[in-house]
Amino acid sequence: MRISYMAGNWKMNYTRSEALSLVKELLDNGSFKNKILIAPPFTVLEAVAGAVKGTDLILGAQNMSTNESGAHTGEISPLMLKDLGVKAVILGHSERRSIYGETDKIVNTKIHLALKHSLDVIFCIGETLEERESGLAEKIVANQVIEGLKDISENELESITIAYEPVWAIGTGKTATPEDADDIHKVIRKKIGELYSKEAAENIIIQYGGSVKPSNVKELMAKPNIDGALVGGAALKAETFIPIMEYNK
Ligand code: 13P
Repeated sequence: MRISYMAGNWKMNYTRSEALSLVKELLDNGSFKNKILIAPPFTVLEAVAGAVKGTDLILGAQNMSTNESGAHTGEISPLMLKDLGVKAVILGHSERRSIYGETDKIVNTKIHLALKHSLDVIFCIGETLEERESGLAEKIVANQVIEGLKDISENELESITIAYEPVWAIGTGKTATPEDADDIHKVIRKKIGELYSKEAAENIIIQYGGSVKPSNVKELMAKPNIDGALVGGAALKAETFIPIMEYNK
């Protein structure tokens, strides 16, 4: 039985006081029956780490360097994240891939490094609109799984959640239909079965991301292969994120 895993990616939003007030609202008013993670920006991680300590709200980061230390101006190492109490890191987000040129190889290097330092990973994949319209969605996503998980063992896979985020649905208000999303999740699960085992395919948690809102979360989560959500815009306010956290209350 896979657990429901709802994650909020805050992207480049919120100063310290704004972040702390959102966290307080989530902790005071939300329930944590499902697995819940928030990924605030780097600059507020330390403050948020203090606020979530001893609670069920898991702290994640949105990105991480390919290196542990050294001459990498502007980068953040997994050691620094661990030092702040971060438990998980989002890697390969489409905004990292498309705006900052992250390739499958870079994402794979980051996944290896995160796991080496015992950080859980939310590994993002997804096709562009052009790829979908050319009928390539399944192929692109399957290939991202193969390349991103290169040389990752079945044991290590237990620390990885896959997030399917069709690029055309991110921040656009367009959500994949639950059927379309579930079809791709099925492809991902099948690929995990081929690369690892039937058991690994059964166990892997696959989140959907792309304009998830309180109004569509239930129908998405009702699909057999959708195990959670990676939420952007709707994760920025307690009044929209709490109903997502508690979609099955
Ligand atoms: P939106 O929910 O704003 O579409 O963002 C999705 C996303 O990119 C989460 O990582």
